[in-house]
Amino acid sequence: MTSKKIAPSVLAADFANLQRDVEMINTSKADWFHIDIMDGVFVPNISFGMPVLRDIAKHATKTIDVHLMIVNPDRYIKTFADLGSHILTVHYEACTHLHRTLQAIKSEGMKAGVAINPHTNVDLLEDSINDIDLVCIMSVNPGFGGQSFIENTYDKVKKLKKIITTRNAGTLIEIDGGVTDKNAKQLVEAGADVLVAGSFVFKSEHPTDTIASLKELVNS
Ligand code: DX5
Ligand code: ZN
Repeated sequence: MTSKKIAPSVLAADFANLQRDVEMINTSKADWFHIDIMDGVFVPNISFGMPVLRDIAKHATKTIDVHLMIVNPDRYIKTFADLGSHILTVHYEACTHLHRTLQAIKSEGMKAGVAINPHTNVDLLEDSINDIDLVCIMSVNPGFGGQSFIENTYDKVKKLKKIITTRNAGTLIEIDGGVTDKNAKQLVEAGADVLVAGSFVFKSEHPTDTIASLKELVNS
């Protein structure tokens, strides 16, 4: 079985020491960089934008997984490809023509992801699951790091895993929000493939060790 992945969320990094934190992820056991882009419209917060991502991409040596929490994501698909994104995830709730958006992401050479808010039923993805490379199940309401994990997520993961298996799709399940060593194991047992972790990694005393132990925990 392919190993379960850990994607530290750069949102929780120290932006005054961004290069240091990017190098920390490079040398750690982390698999991906998770990059949260917020526009202050789709979510009630603004994170950072293109110039910051460009500088992260300059130093990052691992897969760059970009999570767009923005309205009208279609406007920026090419821009994010040019900035070095490998995976581009849009919100289900922000896309009127999701199928078209997914095709546009893929035609720019990126993997296409769909994120769903806590209130969005995974059944809504059934008809497009074979077109989706990654589903990001939000386990908090998007917009902020450091929130507590919503317990209903386990059931959503199991339900989605069933859809993926039934449809014989290769879609990865990513969990985003409130991930810690308390829920990580149960999440992968439910069917998750990628765990995003922001505060749990960056607010810990030794982020590299925290990543290593999380990685070991989910693959043991
Ligand atoms: C929330 C973001 C998350 C966030 C996770 O809107 O999408 O990626 O950074 O942070 P933690 O792990 O602190 O909940
Ligand atoms: Zn995210």
